[in-house]
Amino acid sequence: MAVIRREASSDTAVADAIVAAAFGPGRFAKSAYRLREGVGCVAELSFVAEEGARIVGTVRYWPVLIGGKAALMLGPIAIVADRQGQGIALALMQTTLAEAKKIGHRAVILVGDEPYYGRAGFARIQPVGRITMPGPVDYARLLGLSLVDGALEAMAGEVRKARITATVAAAGCALG
Ligand SMILES: CC(C)(COP(=O)(O)OP(=O)(O)OC[C@H]1O[C@@H](n2cnc3c(N)ncnc32)[C@H](O)[C@@H]1OP(=O)(O)O)[C@@H](O)C(=O)NCCC(=O)NCCS
Repeated sequence: MAVIRREASSDTAVADAIVAAAFGPGRFAKSAYRLREGVGCVAELSFVAEEGARIVGTVRYWPVLIGGKAALMLGPIAIVADRQGQGIALALMQTTLAEAKKIGHRAVILVGDEPYYGRAGFARIQPVGRITMPGPVDYARLLGLSLVDGALEAMAGEVRKARITATVAAAGCALG
């Protein structure tokens, strides 16, 4: 059974390697990456899944603004190939979404498959066009979740970078 815990600085290289193996170099071309460039992740929400001494999964979140209102963007999330399908990603999401709510975040978006992320409570943002991404995206894959009742429904407009972080490297997840 995987232990879900905060990412420590000593885990960062392994977590980065899991993301790189899962998504390949093409990940940097994604619209979600435009929103991460030059911005530090939300360090309190970087978690790993560990089995024995092995890191088998990672999740990170980035801060964004939706029409000027603060929200989170989930991802990247990745599990090592030989441990997929064991519920580890779902456990990572459940733990971190509960933590995000606890520390006061109101809404989370992501770009991903609704049939999968629906398991963690995400649904397609509707109507299409209410919330827009700054680059090309398949809007059937733009999903959201309110952590506070009605929070996401009250948001509209373009998703933009929340802040530029001078010390991104220190945040440990500059590239995601
Ligand atoms: C997607 C990913 C994070 C899921 O992690 P995981 O720990 O294997 O997921 P879980 O065990 O919680 O859930 C697995 C279930 O979800 C299903 N599933 C996985 N990806 C899915 C998808 N894209 N669409 C629909 N269902 C999906 C699996 O078939 C499995 O179904 P089952 O429970 O009926 O057997 C993992 O497979 C991964 O790292 N993939 C490569 C990177 C990636 O695609 N990340 C997401 C980008 S949006």
